Amino acid sequence: MNDTHRIGRFYDSLDSVAYGGDYNPEQWGPEVHAEDTELMRKAGVNLATVGIFSWAKAEPAPGAYDFGWLDTHLDRLADAGVRVCLATMTASPPAWLARLHPETLPVMEDGTRLYPGSRQHWCPSSPVFRDHATRLVEQLAGRYADHPALALWHIGNEYGCHISRHCHCEVSTAAFRAWLRERYGTVDALNEAWCTDFWAQRYGDFDEIHTPRSAPSFRNPAQQLDYRRFSSDELLACYLAEKQVLERLTPAVPVTTNFVPVARTLDLFRWAPHLDVVSYDSYPDPHDADSAHGTAFSYDVMRGLKGGQPWLLMEQAPSAVNWRRRNGRKPDGRMRLDSWQAVAHGADSVLFFQWRQSRGGAEKFHSAMVPHGGPDTRIFREVGALGAELAALPELFGSRPERADAALLLEWPSWWALELDAHPSSDVTLLDTALAHHRPLYDASVACDIVPADGDFSPYRLLVVPNLYSVSSATAERITDYVAAGGTLVMSYFSGITDEYDRVHLGGYPAPFRELLGLRIEEFDPLPEGVTLPLGDAGTGSLWSEDIVLEGAEPILALGDGRPAVTRHTYGDGTAWYLGTRPDPATLRTLMDRIRTEASVAPTEADLPEGVQVRTRITTDGRRLRIGLDWRDGSVSVTEQE
Ligand code: GLA
Repeated sequence: MNDTHRIGRFYDSLDSVAYGGDYNPEQWGPEVHAEDTELMRKAGVNLATVGIFSWAKAEPAPGAYDFGWLDTHLDRLADAGVRVCLATMTASPPAWLARLHPETLPVMEDGTRLYPGSRQHWCPSSPVFRDHATRLVEQLAGRYADHPALALWHIGNEYGCHISRHCHCEVSTAAFRAWLRERYGTVDALNEAWCTDFWAQRYGDFDEIHTPRSAPSFRNPAQQLDYRRFSSDELLACYLAEKQVLERLTPAVPVTTNFVPVARTLDLFRWAPHLDVVSYDSYPDPHDADSAHGTAFSYDVMRGLKGGQPWLLMEQAPSAVNWRRRNGRKPDGRMRLDSWQAVAHGADSVLFFQWRQSRGGAEKFHSAMVPHGGPDTRIFREVGALGAELAALPELFGSRPERADAALLLEWPSWWALELDAHPSSDVTLLDTALAHHRPLYDASVACDIVPADGDFSPYRLLVVPNLYSVSSATAERITDYVAAGGTLVMSYFSGITDEYDRVHLGGYPAPFRELLGLRIEEFDPLPEGVTLPLGDAGTGSLWSEDIVLEGAEPILALGDGRPAVTRHTYGDGTAWYLGTRPDPATLRTLMDRIRTEASVAPTEADLPEGVQVRTRITTDGRRLRIGLDWRDGSVSVTEQE
């Protein structure tokens, strides 16, 4: 059964946008459970995510499963009309696994082993861990396959969140070698790709290769890059091992896993095809007055992972979190605004971490839908009001987010390569650049999709390519073809520099894009911290400058010292813009307004005041629902467009 069919079951099981959160009934007694059911009804909860951290309770000793308690809760939820997103419980193994198999504990690059007592203390390459995890999943799937509450499987939790750099134990090292063998076939091919004649790094055998552990100086860049690929793949293999069990035993039930705020760790475009629906955990900081844009960007990424398909907001905080230095609460109405922002950008759920605020443990000061203070609280009143509001708009659920005319290209391996050490500047980082170039579109309420390097650019009039440092010849050709066919490209500095093994594309930077951009770059000249150069008549450039030699491109803006810094080149039927510095926000806005206007890319609505965002969702019967988010006063409006 393919994912389109499976996900249908999820949509069939609910009447409106999924509303609820992580539910951890094992932390409470029967009186509280009774109150939970009642309060869920009051709050309009229709979906609870159950069992994320329940492994120790469900398997108190190896192979001794105890699901009686879970049966009771699932039955209770089903009776109350609440559907369940059931976790496979494998996010955190019980303490007995580490006692019996200490080799399942992860080892950091300096050799430090991480111990139980927190969570996520497992080595992704460990066959012992995978074996215990999949056995638990078999039990769960066998037992609950036909349970009326089951709407969706939630595999693991936030893969790669705490152990972002994988593991360096002996088992992981052997797995890395096997992965390299598979990728390169021969050690000579690896030597060639990794440029190991540099610093006497040549290998005679795969068994001489290690994961990039602590070393005296810079480690081989291609080794680091492959290790990142390997780490993402190993976590994906853990996910897939569980998914295979579920597909075998519950082929009709869709599966998901929740991704952490757009993080480098996982190559999400490689993961997404294996999820029936993408899920995301979002935690904007109430103390950050500017957080709405970054959040919108991450939501655009989630929508882009499956080509525009709606996604699930699996977690957000009703108010404060507990893990920042100072954890601000969300002011009145902010939780509603945050929730509608997710829906506007394509979410089909508004779910929280968590239902009831824990009494003990490390997250007792993290807000929840039912706070320590109980239901007679501002948070619970807001939770109830939002639940009622969403339930009153059933047509939203399953509606399609409108496709944008602009797209931004995001590519994980290039992101990893860009941020390797020993570069012209350590301050050139991908999220910073991507956000800076997404921002002028966002501020003008121009919708923007996110596309992978191997995606289809043809539906878009404008393609923004921030810092595509590493690029294969095939991708470079596709970007070139897109422009030749009439597309408009905006590419920022330090793009097209190396290939997928981090070897420089020779022939003058950026060799694969020289002809397209109509220029070459002789030398990079990153600017010192805090230094800006005049740019054009009134602007400034920061972070980066370079010596651009024009080869057909027209200089649009120059730095104060006369070097061209923004150029435009007609190529085939299209136009290629190039930015050789980071313009200040106002200059970048003016520039992007001009570029997108020339490319006929318009805001989602004419004459919107700054601070107002509008996005449209199209219902299954073709109606257009306009969601307006006013960040100036925090108001939200949902109306049907003519
Ligand atoms: C993550 C986890 C949750 C919880 C929240 C707290 O998103 O998935 O279990 O720890 O953070 O913000």
